[in-house]
Amino acid sequence: MQTKPNILPSLKLVLSFFVLLSLNAVKAQPFLKAHPHINPYRYEIVKEMTFDNGAVTSASPLASMVGAAMMKDGGNAFDAAIATQLSLAVVFPGAGNIGGGGFMLARKANGELIGIDYREAAPSKASRDMYLDEKGDPIPEKSTRGTTASGIPGSIAGIISTHAYAKLPFAKLIEPAIEFAEFGYVISEREAKGLNSEKANFLKHSSAPSAFTQKEVWKAGDTLIQPELAATLKRIQKNGLAGFYEGETAAYIVKEMGHTGGYITLEDLKKYTPKFRKPLEFDYKGHHIISFAPPSSGGILIAQMMQMIAPFNVEKMGLNTLESVSLMVEAQRRAYADRAEHMGDPDYWKVPTKTLISNSYAQARMSDYKAGEAGSSKTTLAGQVHESEQTTHFSVIDKEGNMVAITTTLNDTYGNKTIVAGAGFLLNNEMDDFSIKPGVPNMYGALGGEANAIQPGKRMLSSMTPTLVTVNNKPYISIGTPGGTTIPNQVYEGLVNIIDHKMSIKQAIDATRFHHQWIPDVIAVESDFPEDIENGLKAMGYKTMRRGKFGRMDGIQISAQGKRVAAGDKRGDDSVAGY
Ligand code: DON
Repeated sequence: MQTKPNILPSLKLVLSFFVLLSLNAVKAQPFLKAHPHINPYRYEIVKEMTFDNGAVTSASPLASMVGAAMMKDGGNAFDAAIATQLSLAVVFPGAGNIGGGGFMLARKANGELIGIDYREAAPSKASRDMYLDEKGDPIPEKSTRGTTASGIPGSIAGIISTHAYAKLPFAKLIEPAIEFAEFGYVISEREAKGLNSEKANFLKHSSAPSAFTQKEVWKAGDTLIQPELAATLKRIQKNGLAGFYEGETAAYIVKEMGHTGGYITLEDLKKYTPKFRKPLEFDYKGHHIISFAPPSSGGILIAQMMQMIAPFNVEKMGLNTLESVSLMVEAQRRAYADRAEHMGDPDYWKVPTKTLISNSYAQARMSDYKAGEAGSSKTTLAGQVHESEQTTHFSVIDKEGNMVAITTTLNDTYGNKTIVAGAGFLLNNEMDDFSIKPGVPNMYGALGGEANAIQPGKRMLSSMTPTLVTVNNKPYISIGTPGGTTIPNQVYEGLVNIIDHKMSIKQAIDATRFHHQWIPDVIAVESDFPEDIENGLKAMGYKTMRRGKFGRMDGIQISAQGKRVAAGDKRGDDSVAGY
């Protein structure tokens, strides 16, 4: 006799298996399960949107959505910034990072300004000529590839210092990043291209294969899972600073150093501290601009350039006319000449900040400006100053009016191309931002001298320019961008577009850009820069060159009605979110 199988017990078993599985998923993904609208396998880019309460704009749709969710869950702009930055370290690996550094600039709703410098520092074993051979020539790639190029990472220390201003527990803010790393996220075409083009470099400069090299060829829509990075983030979630700067993670970093002769020691990691820097402030045509102090050069540069052009009616000159571009370029030439000579880590070099950002100095520097005539970097040198004394940017403004602007970097795209074995994150190649030899340009063509020479513990000069604007003491704009030495010029042009040319924040961000950095004596323009103006500039005696895109600027502006108008640059996958 045939007996019918009793399927009930096995059905029960299967059902309870699925219940258990989904309970586990909730346990394993508390953030994503509670926020089903954030789907790491299916998400869209939103370039511009207006929100009633809080807004985030960043290089990644997922990271922006995470920031907005934290505000909706009761957090403020600092909570959003922390969660966005940690998510970027997972979903935007080319520049988002825990192995790099950055600057956090904030203005609290009560008017208090905060500047946290978590720039990388030179390891204790670093020395002035460490990148030169016996003949005194730079050793190719030593300051740009592999562990020799890395400064001591500052990002986690900076994020944890920022947490003092936040409202939600740190464990909650890091959770989305852990879930993206552990369960994966779908990569965009841009990311797939980036990972494919760097595959050989990742393998060459790392001691072991990594999540980035797990596939032969990446394509848009593939899922990137980073289990080692998830484990590192969990150690940080559990142990805070010590989860990165001590114990297992620190040991992995130091072990990786051994692979290619890098300099960072356990002691270097343990000793790293972020520094509070008093933000720089200046006025421009009824707007109060707040930006980052040295070791960033950005705040000084935009203060100089904007004050140099303030006496002129730029609006009347028009956008991208011969008159306006040559005026703005001559300001760029003069300010960048000062960058090379006078700027460095203020704890190691006396940066004459007060003079450099003074309006009288700006006017004196422009005294030899002749409208209609191309200047020359042979005759324009740094001013005489006497005084008593692949990066990513994101912006947040919350419901209360707290504004945060953060630019963070590994320096080059995917940093030094070294993924720390066991810990799953990329290291920076920030040492190249020092002047490795006077007169030898770094990877951005920037020159430097004594002010930016290498010393143990010193922080390399940066161009990162996170910037905030107020009008009548009320919050107005949070803005910034990546792009090496083009950064201060991009922010300068973006603000002039808004303030003088009355563009919306989205138009200002998307507008074509130009860049002059004193040396080389050439105006670099983006591919969509008007050809007739370029020809006109040449006829005036300028040298010009067409370059790819400059940066990916992200910004938020508060409208007259008090709404948060968020915009992401057309140049990348940048995306806004809010509520
Ligand atoms: O701090 C700096 O100035 C550079 N390390 C920034 C590098 C950068 O913006 C690369 N991004 N495109």
